[in-house]
Amino acid sequence: ILPATFGSGDKRYGGFYTQKQLKALIKYAAERNIEIIPEIDLPGHSKALAACYPDVLCNTTKEFASVQGETGNVLCIGNENNYKILYNIFKEIAALFPSDYIHIGGDEVNMDNWKACPLCTKLMQERGMTQPEQLQNYFVRRLEIIIEKLGKKMAGWDEIIEGGELNPQTRVYAWRDIKTGLRSAEKGQPTIMQPAQYFYVDMKQSPVERGHNWAAIVTLEKLYSFNTKNLNNNIIGVQAGLWTELLNRPPRFIEYQTFPRLSALAEVGWSDNDKRVWNDFNYRLTKTHYERLYNMGIAFRLPMPDVTYNNNKLKVTLPYDWAIVRYTSDKTEPNQSSSIYCGEITTDSPENYRFATFYGTFD
Ligand code: ACM
Ligand code: ZN
Repeated sequence: ILPATFGSGDKRYGGFYTQKQLKALIKYAAERNIEIIPEIDLPGHSKALAACYPDVLCNTTKEFASVQGETGNVLCIGNENNYKILYNIFKEIAALFPSDYIHIGGDEVNMDNWKACPLCTKLMQERGMTQPEQLQNYFVRRLEIIIEKLGKKMAGWDEIIEGGELNPQTRVYAWRDIKTGLRSAEKGQPTIMQPAQYFYVDMKQSPVERGHNWAAIVTLEKLYSFNTKNLNNNIIGVQAGLWTELLNRPPRFIEYQTFPRLSALAEVGWSDNDKRVWNDFNYRLTKTHYERLYNMGIAFRLPMPDVTYNNNKLKVTLPYDWAIVRYTSDKTEPNQSSSIYCGEITTDSPENYRFATFYGTFD
C-alpha cells in the first residue's frame, strides 16, 4: 500500500488496470486512430515497484529525496536481479501494447542513491565510470537491449541523453526545455519536442486559474507561439503533456486544461511556421472551432473577460467581439442563466460582481 499523495488524504489514490481493461482501452483508442505508447518510468519514479519489492532499491541507510520529495523510488543499477524483474515486466507490456515504442522514463533520478550504494559503486569502479550519469546510461542501454529483444524500440525522457551514447533509433522526449531537445537532435536521436514551458497543459492558463506553474503559465497564445522554423531534421514532432495530479476538480477540469490548447498544438505540429499567425488562429477558433468542440461535447476553456472599475462603473472588455459574458452581483459564480453583460454597470460595490465568458447564442 502506497502512502496517499496529492491531497487524496486517506482515500485511495490511483489504482490499476487489469490486462482485460487495458486491451479494451487500447482497442477504443485504435478505433479513433490513437496509438497508446506505454511508459514504465525507470530507474526513478519507481515507488510502486519498490513498495512491492523493496529489494530493487539500493542497499543504503540514507534517504535521498526526488525533486517531488519522494524517497525510496530509485532502482539499484548494480543489482543484477533487477534486470530479470524488468525483463518480465516489459515482456508483459510488449505483449499487451501493439505500439512500436515502449517508453522507459529516465527522468528526475536522484543519483545520490547510487553514490551511497556498494553494488552501484562497485559497478562504476569495474567499468571505469566517474559520473553517476554514466551509470544511468549503462542502465538505459541495458533496457534498450531488453526492449529490442521484445521486438520494440525504446523511448525515454531527455535525461537519457546524458552520460553516454544511445542506440541511434532510441527516441527522446525533450521535456526540460527547448535547448535540451536541440542537444538531443544534434546527438542524432529522433526527438519529440515537449518543453514544459510551452507544452505541459497541466500548467495554469492564467495566474488566477487552477493548475501548476513550476514551468510557466502556459497561455493558449504562448503554446501557439512555439517556433518550429529551422529545426534540426531529427526533431520529428511535438507533444503535449497532461499530468493529472491536482486535476480532479472542478468537474471536467482535464478537458478544460486540454482544449483548446490541444487544437493549438495540432496546428503547431501540422502547419508551416510562417503560416501561423495568432490573430488568424484566434479568429478561426472563436468563429468556428469552438462550435466544433461544443458539438463534440467537450468542456473546453473560454478566454476570460477583462473587467475594469472607474468612476463607479464596471466596464468589461470582451475576450472576442462575439463573446457572451454573464455576471452576478452576489459573489456567486455566474452560470448559464445569469444576466448577460451588455453595457457598463454603475455600482458602489464592485467587489460583489463576478464575470465569466459563456459559449452559446442569446436564445
Ligand atoms: C517529467 O515531467 N518529469 C517528464
Ligand atoms: Zn545500488
